[in-house]
Amino acid sequence: MSKLFTPLTIKDVTFRNRIGVSPMCQYSSNDGVATDWHMVHLGSRAVGGAGLVIAEATAVRADGRITPGCAGLWNEDQVEALIPINRFIEDMGAVAGVQIGHAGRKASAARPWDGGAHLADDAGGWHMIAPTDQPFDDDSTRLWKAPRAMTHDDIKKIQQSFVDAAKRALVAGYRFLEIHGAHGYLLHSFFTPLVNTRTDEYGGDARGRARMMLETIDAVRANWPENLPLGVRLSAADWIDGGLTVEDNIQMAAWLKERGVDIIDCSGGGATPAARASIGSRTADQVNLAAQIRKDAEIATMAVGCITDAKHAEAVIAEGQADMVLLARQLLRDPYWPVHAAQELEADAKSMMPIQNGFFVG
Ligand SMILES: Cc1cc2nc3c(=O)[nH]c(=O)nc-3n(C[C@H](O)[C@H](O)[C@H](O)COP(=O)(O)O)c2cc1C
Repeated sequence: MSKLFTPLTIKDVTFRNRIGVSPMCQYSSNDGVATDWHMVHLGSRAVGGAGLVIAEATAVRADGRITPGCAGLWNEDQVEALIPINRFIEDMGAVAGVQIGHAGRKASAARPWDGGAHLADDAGGWHMIAPTDQPFDDDSTRLWKAPRAMTHDDIKKIQQSFVDAAKRALVAGYRFLEIHGAHGYLLHSFFTPLVNTRTDEYGGDARGRARMMLETIDAVRANWPENLPLGVRLSAADWIDGGLTVEDNIQMAAWLKERGVDIIDCSGGGATPAARASIGSRTADQVNLAAQIRKDAEIATMAVGCITDAKHAEAVIAEGQADMVLLARQLLRDPYWPVHAAQELEADAKSMMPIQNGFFVG
């Protein structure tokens, strides 16, 4: 009997299998408002059999978008556009989830296919905020703007924006909420010593650098229903000397667990240009990070990174490395990967085929 296709229940939410769509920026929103693209992109992966569909990094404020095309949850128009998309995802038997975040000093960027560097203010860019005023990169051949170091007032306002976005996420129909604490964006940039050199109570030792994340989680958890799961994506290793190690993130996961976080999504990298890639040479190693955090922090984990093969995914779950696998690029290549995996593993695919199609699929 396949473990990958055994349902998972966290709080009052049951996922039909252990396969999730990893959050993926689509750069296709208008002023943060989802479009038909999102209905097709997310909807087709729900039809394809995933148990959880996590929508892309969705900004809690306009200045928290990575690019002008990124999604948002800072106003009611954005909520209205998401309601039918999430209804469809749930009608297809998947759980609708969303990753909310703030891009910090990596905001105000061009779309990847336009180079990904910062946008000048007169080219649609905006001012950024971050733990310090150091820019992300100093490569003089491209534009890298310096952010403004956040004041305590900024910190409180951002935390409130996370709360407001979480409340909107609920109205929009999401049942799984993930806080983006990875890839060099705002919350990760507070935790990693590669970026955070503050000398106040939001910097210094690991507990000080974790304060921004932990206060944000406290505020969100108090406003996200107790019976719905809350996850956090961490860069479980910075992959660079002087950066965060998996041990630092085991500690962070333990702190998050104490605060009512249900599951840790274990990604990596992204803090600085040297540790730049969140998809890079170490991506495949992230499964091991998920296993270590699960074991040592005694919290459920999601493994992500270079999972493309059904038997590999089955082994990750069966061997107890993670409670769920997330796939990104493979689900872009093949939205029906879960159905194909069920066939390969001889698992029951009927529950993954809504309407009468399960009859034919077996
Ligand atoms: C097009 C694209 C967009 C992505 N956008 C996000 C994002 O919004 N948030 C995030 O945490 N990771 C993002 N990622 C990273 C993926 O979620 C995932 O962690 C990474 O691609 C490794 O998984 P894979 O090997 O299955 O592709 C993105 C990846 C891709 C390919």
